[in-house]
Amino acid sequence: TSADPVLYRATFMHTPRSPFADAEALHAEDDGGLLVAGGTILASGPWAEVRAQAPEAPVTDLRGGLLLPGFVDTHVHYPQVRVVGGLGMPLLDWLDRNALPEEARLADEGYARAVAREFLGALAMNGTTTALVFGAHYAGAMHAFFEEAATSGLRTVAGLVVGDRLLRPELHTTPERAYAEGRTLIERWHGRGRALYAVTPRFSLSASEGLLDACGALLREFEGVRFTSHINENVTEVEVVRGLFPEARDYLDTYERAGLVGRRSVLAHNVWPSDRELGAMAEHRCSAAHCPCSNSALGSGFFPLRRHLAAGVHVSLGSDVGGGTGFSLLKEGVQAYFMQQLMGADGVALTPAHLLYLATRAGAEALDLGDLTGDFSAGRQFDAVHLSPPPGTPLAAVYAHAEGPGRLLAATFASGTQGDVARVWVGGDEVYARG
Ligand code: GUN
Ligand code: ZN
Repeated sequence: TSADPVLYRATFMHTPRSPFADAEALHAEDDGGLLVAGGTILASGPWAEVRAQAPEAPVTDLRGGLLLPGFVDTHVHYPQVRVVGGLGMPLLDWLDRNALPEEARLADEGYARAVAREFLGALAMNGTTTALVFGAHYAGAMHAFFEEAATSGLRTVAGLVVGDRLLRPELHTTPERAYAEGRTLIERWHGRGRALYAVTPRFSLSASEGLLDACGALLREFEGVRFTSHINENVTEVEVVRGLFPEARDYLDTYERAGLVGRRSVLAHNVWPSDRELGAMAEHRCSAAHCPCSNSALGSGFFPLRRHLAAGVHVSLGSDVGGGTGFSLLKEGVQAYFMQQLMGADGVALTPAHLLYLATRAGAEALDLGDLTGDFSAGRQFDAVHLSPPPGTPLAAVYAHAEGPGRLLAATFASGTQGDVARVWVGGDEVYARG
């Protein structure tokens, strides 16, 4: 990262505020400028105004494309990059037949490192600059992951996944070992460079009360550590959890009782929440990570976004690779839109501004990284994705002729892909360049 100022000239858009709260939240600059020094945005606005503040600074001209804040994926599994596309199974069968056999292979640290490289490369080439990463069940695989993540330059929040029942024996740990390995990983990696640690029981179905308590101990002991897990994804899963925790009020309560739910907790899916759970989630100020492609692929159900919003629960977006079908948060955005459309009166009519917010700012806030990233306001890190459709593609034609920022953004979510991502930066460092 150069400490000298650099000026980026581009059509850019961002959502510094939530479009769910403010209909005017989309901020678009047709000819915009971003002044960046030492990785931090110093000024953001119309080109002429920003240029006037730094008349001598070298200019990176990104006109002809669209510059967006880097995407924030708040639920994605690193060990599942090679098992994307296992279609035709509901969650618990999919885990047994598709995901867990592959996750067991990460016992081999060399294998895990190769998978970590593929995974981090896939995030970057899709414009994801920050990710809450569901890790592996092996401490060695997590050390390899954090080493590779440091090399990649991406912002990652990740942790050792723990379970002590109902997976496969080679994936099981104990509360004592989960605590000890978690502690070592936190001391080594939490807050180092762009990495943070997330305490990560796989889900209550595969976690004894003792294991969840060990997770709670880590959260209490180490400042700033995040929490993530799965919740209310599939009706069969919810029933099994109810049977395993007869004392708990509901699925959320299995986590609440262990002290795992707070402002820095992200719970993936929540397709089947009760009103009690939604109210409690709002009170705890935790987040729900909505994973629409996964919910469709595994037939999990329709995410009740309207009920989350009405209860005041913060919602962000996740790709849930490999239950999900790919790394693009553009695709997750449009799939969220599709599913809400199909819900009729129960759905929320999402606009392009909502999709951008869900893919960027909402994720930064879910991770409590809102001061650092998620939009192009002055003071944020320059985390950005430059979309520039290859000449001759249909999206390039839209970019050349779109009338207004809303149309441009809508077309980007509707048909943009990995191939349209030209360059990606994190903290002013280029982490991906096409070709
Ligand atoms: N619940 C527990 N583990 C998983 C997983 O790997 N993927 C999904 N989608 N749900 C889960
Ligand atoms: Zn998941």
